[in-house]
Amino acid sequence: MEKRLINIGILGFGTVGSGAVKVLWEQKEEIEKELGVELRIKKIVDQDWQRQRPVAVPPELKGKNLEEVLEDPELDILVEAIGGVEPAFSVVSRFLSRGKTVITPNKELIAKKGRELLDLASQAGGELFFEGSVGGGIPIIQTLKTQLLGDDISEVFGIVNGTTNFILTHMSLYQSSYAESLDKAQELGYAEPVPTMDVEGFDAAYKIAILASLSFHTRVDVESVYREGITRIIPQDIEFAQELGFVVKLLAIAKLIDNAVTLRVHPVFLPNNHPLSGVNGVENAIFVKSRFRELTFRGPGAGGEATGAALVGDIIEAVRNILFDSRGRVGCTCLRELEVQPIAQLETQYCIRVLALDVPGVLGKIATEFGDGGVSLSAVKQPVSTPGKLTNIYFLTHSVREELLQKALKRVNDLEVVSDTYTIRVEA
Ligand code: HSE
Repeated sequence: MEKRLINIGILGFGTVGSGAVKVLWEQKEEIEKELGVELRIKKIVDQDWQRQRPVAVPPELKGKNLEEVLEDPELDILVEAIGGVEPAFSVVSRFLSRGKTVITPNKELIAKKGRELLDLASQAGGELFFEGSVGGGIPIIQTLKTQLLGDDISEVFGIVNGTTNFILTHMSLYQSSYAESLDKAQELGYAEPVPTMDVEGFDAAYKIAILASLSFHTRVDVESVYREGITRIIPQDIEFAQELGFVVKLLAIAKLIDNAVTLRVHPVFLPNNHPLSGVNGVENAIFVKSRFRELTFRGPGAGGEATGAALVGDIIEAVRNILFDSRGRVGCTCLRELEVQPIAQLETQYCIRVLALDVPGVLGKIATEFGDGGVSLSAVKQPVSTPGKLTNIYFLTHSVREELLQKALKRVNDLEVVSDTYTIRVEA
């Protein structure tokens, strides 16, 4: 019997697009045997065919115009690997509205327009897969949508940005500054020339919005994610953390608290014994806590082959659904509209770095403001300093509501001897 031919179009031939094609071509025979189909990449569209790629593409497959893919009635599956919201949103919408299948690793698109696209797919009989959008090569999306759907998840948080994890790991290993570590990340190709999306936490915010939506079956507005990046961390912060048994990580956090959800991306002091504390360099990991189990998913958070393999995993699932005429089996799972807890209501311990003049009584003045503001202190450290000069003094508080902490901090900041403060939350 003749095998069914599945035609695939690729939009965007950067790291991930070319990674997916490489994995698909290398594993083609094996996958075709398993699925009983013939898989054909019919067209690859990219603006720039001069760049070096990990695979050689026959000339007849190379396209430059989106329409070459979009207007082809024979295509069954479109892989969108352009990134960003436009033109990706228009292109994906057009394809889905014809009842076809789209696979995308585009986290910004899914975080901002996922619900709309999933609704469109379901109305038109199309299907949308986005495994590569969070955690690169870690198969977390499909796992949350299927295996963990009935688990009653209460927490999902992780290291979902390799660039920032590399920088923090480098700072911790070499006592180097943020700027030096960013330089190193750029030299190795881990950080973009303009690193804002990563170092200011935007990338992680998109990813936690997607994870929270899937874990808690709720709509999540990405704008409601509280976000801080890593640019203000200094090596002394990491040293203070180490002395107290913590590591400093940029975490993307979503937790259910009294029927509301806390959604945050910021640096944390994480206890040394937490499963995520040993995740270093560009590696990613996601921790899930449900009524029935605690799970840690760990692996490559980026990279052409790893993320490409996640896209190929989606292609396999998509082909099965096409073969069994069961597209849309797993659609949008966000049926609730949970409230987002304001950051002011967070209750945790805090590390406070206070830059103050080393003059008699300074420590007492700061401690008094904390005490008067209802903030109880758990540890204090003043590194060796020079009289009359500015010095960093570290405080670890007991657990306190962020609202109270911020009020006390304002009083500390108002002291004449204090020039600056910086806060890192403790995550247990
Ligand atoms: N820029 C991301 C990171 C990889 O540094 O982890 C793509 O999501």
